[in-house]
Order: sequence, then structure tokens, then C-alpha cells
Amino acid sequence: MNKSIDYLIQPGGKLTGRVRVPGDKSISHRSVMLGSLAEGETRVTGLLEGEDVLSTLGAFRAMGVRVAGPDQGNLVIHGAGLHGLKSPKNALDMGNSGTAMRLMAGVLAGQVFDTELIGDASLSQRPMQRVVDPLGRMGAKIQTDEGGRPPLRIKGGQKLRGISYQMPVASAQVKSSLLLAGLYAAGETTVTEPAPTRDHTERLLRGFGYDVQTQGARISLRGGGALKGRRIDVPADISSAAFLLVGASIAPGSDLMLEQVGINPTRTGVLNILKLMGANIELLNAREVGGEPVADIRVRAAGLRGIRIPEDQVPLAVDEFPAIFIAAAVASGETVLSGAQELRVKESDRIAVMARGLKQLGIDARETPDGIIVRGGRLQAGTVDSHGDHRIAMSFAIAGFVTSGPVTVRDCKNVDTSFPGFVNLAAKVGLSIRVI
Ligand code: S3P
Repeated sequence: MNKSIDYLIQPGGKLTGRVRVPGDKSISHRSVMLGSLAEGETRVTGLLEGEDVLSTLGAFRAMGVRVAGPDQGNLVIHGAGLHGLKSPKNALDMGNSGTAMRLMAGVLAGQVFDTELIGDASLSQRPMQRVVDPLGRMGAKIQTDEGGRPPLRIKGGQKLRGISYQMPVASAQVKSSLLLAGLYAAGETTVTEPAPTRDHTERLLRGFGYDVQTQGARISLRGGGALKGRRIDVPADISSAAFLLVGASIAPGSDLMLEQVGINPTRTGVLNILKLMGANIELLNAREVGGEPVADIRVRAAGLRGIRIPEDQVPLAVDEFPAIFIAAAVASGETVLSGAQELRVKESDRIAVMARGLKQLGIDARETPDGIIVRGGRLQAGTVDSHGDHRIAMSFAIAGFVTSGPVTVRDCKNVDTSFPGFVNLAAKVGLSIRVI
């Protein structure tokens, strides 16, 4: 059993220096998946060695893929080819990772053998019908538990056919799951998004030599091709950088440089929103690395003001709202978020859990069905519960810069799913944080 840990944060201090946060989680998952399904060798550098990505890696190892590493972000995958995976002995455990489970469902729907996908207590409560329905329309046979929850039992040996699917929710996981199944389907698979979502799957597939067409909101590919092994340099994760962007914005005197952060325009909602709030953020040395735009980001402390968050930014900042709510708690005036009901089905109900935690620290935070209203004020000392949600744990840790006294954040073990080494890195650049 994983032992639970808590963080204790002392207020004061500032963020300074240069730092590189760990590799992008979305790109790391996809690198492992596509490298495993490719022909020949794929060499990955900058891989996130977080538990979520290790779950994906473990699944491919269990299906016979030979992998060397990971070692300090380096991974060498000897691809099995699209049809070279072997039947795993046991159920594949996706741990805490919704991305792993939903994308793997697409991959496994196309295999000749049966599989079962399981997850931890949080993942076991998350909705899977959003991938099971459209995959079923492609010919996949997938059983779920009651209410479309995991485990997923996927029947092998089905003939998949391409479909044209209009996604009801803006979800990169649904899009990616269908595109991955589409590699195994007869004819063309087309997915239409209601709003732009992260396009790493499309970019990476093209890098593996696979033809993917994007026309406005429609993304399509034809089954029956092959992926060719390649090199991938994973940029630092903007979703991990987000905690430090907010921390440096709120901690007086901060001046921090975040190195080689992915700034794919489908991920930069957090920069847009913080800038609207008055943050002092500068992108330097913008360049492209392995098909993904990256930059160094300089962030300095600034007075923030509350805003109405534009709804078109929601899918572009979908993982960064817990950190943004901390910025809102410190800002002058009210911040209003709407159109963000998806936050309720993440690793926790992020609207409810953040509202509760903010109230615990003396902030006026009111839930709405699809968002939150946060009135900026003085954060008080206190204890908050992250409910095992990595991003909520790190958000309240960063809030500790400006609270009136110490903050204890409970249940922080899952920070290792996306940001291994968070405590050491945050302490190195100026946060008084320790594990208790
Ligand atoms: C992800 C997509 C997003 C995001 C998740 C990672 C991905 O989920 O919240 O952390 O890698 O495709 P949704 O597709 O459910 O919005």
C-alpha cells in the first residue's frame, strides 16, 4: 500500500533562479505508446518518470515490448510494430491515470487478444463511456462496470471500421483514443472536436511518419499504415510549470526562469489567463523541438486582479485550474469561471475540492454547477485535504507562500504521478516546504 504523506509549508520567501520542471505527461504517455507500436527503435529524452507514465510503460512491457530505461528521462523502445503486441498475463493496471486508460482502450480495441484495464480508487470512479461508446461504434467490444466505470474488459479479435465522430465533450483523451483505434480500423476515422484540445497525438503520429489530416476541427487518418521509430525530445510540462508560474506571480520579489517549457498553443491557456489577470510573464528563446514549440518562460511577481475567465480558454487550461484558483484567491476582486464542468470528473471533483480547501483557508469561494466564483482575499493558515489529487496538493503548497501562517496539505502521495521531485525542486527555488 502507498503510505499517505502530508506537506507542511511555511509562508514567506520568493521564487528565484532557473529551473526545468519534469517532462510533459501527455507527450510522455504518447511517446511510450507510439514508440511501442512503431517499427524499429524510438529514443526518448526528457521523459516524465512519473507514476502515470510508468503505468503506460508497464502495460507495454507486459505485452512483450522491450524497453531500456527509463534512466534520467532517457528511454529506448524496441517497437513491436502495430501487430506485434502479445497477450498480457494479468490485468493492466493504469494506476491513477485517466489518460493511460482512455488511450490504451483505443490501442487494445484493435488487438487480437483480450485485455482488462484496471485502476486505483480514483480512476475506478471516472467516466469511461465517453470512449467506450464511440469505440463500440467502430466495432470494439468493451465491457465496463456499472455506470461506465472501470475496469474495462476489452474483447480481442474484433474487426474495427473507421467512423466519423462528432465529440460531445472537448477531450483530447477521447480524440486520441479514437485515432489510436483508427490505426487498426478499415477505412477512415474522423473525429470532430467541439473546441480545440491538445494535439500531441496528431503531431507525434506525423513524426512517426503517419499521415494525419487536420482540417479545422476535423482530424482524420486511415487505418492500415505503419509507424516508424524516431527520436523524441519531450519538453518540460507546462502543467507542472503552472504551479511555479502562479507561485512566482504571488510571492513578492520573485523572478524565476522556467526552461524549455512546451508552449503548444493547445496548452497555453494558463499563460493567457494569468496574463489577463496582470501576471508578468515573458516568453524567451521560442523555438521548435521535435515538432513541439517550446520556450523559456520568465515570470516575476505582479499584482493580480480578478477576471471573468473566457470560456474558450477552458480546454486550453483544463489541468491548470487548481493553480489558477490560487492566483484568483490572491487577486483583487472576483474571478468567475464557467463552462468548466469537466473539472468535476478529473482525478477529483476539482471544483468541489478546491472550493472546500479555499474556504478552509478563509477565502470566499462559491461553487457553481460548471465553475466557481473566487473572491480574492487574505489566505489564512490552516489544513486542507487534496483528496489524493496531485494538482490540488501542489496548488495549495504554492498558496503557502502568502498564507498568514503555516499550511498543511494532506494526502500528497499522488504528486508523484505527474511531478516526481516536486518538494525538492520547489524548495530549491524558494518554497519552505517539507514532507511530514
Ligand atoms: C490529457 C487530456 C486532458 C487532461 C489530461 C491529459 C491528454 O483530459 O485533463 O490530464 O493527455 O490527452 P481530457 O481529454 O479528459 O480533457
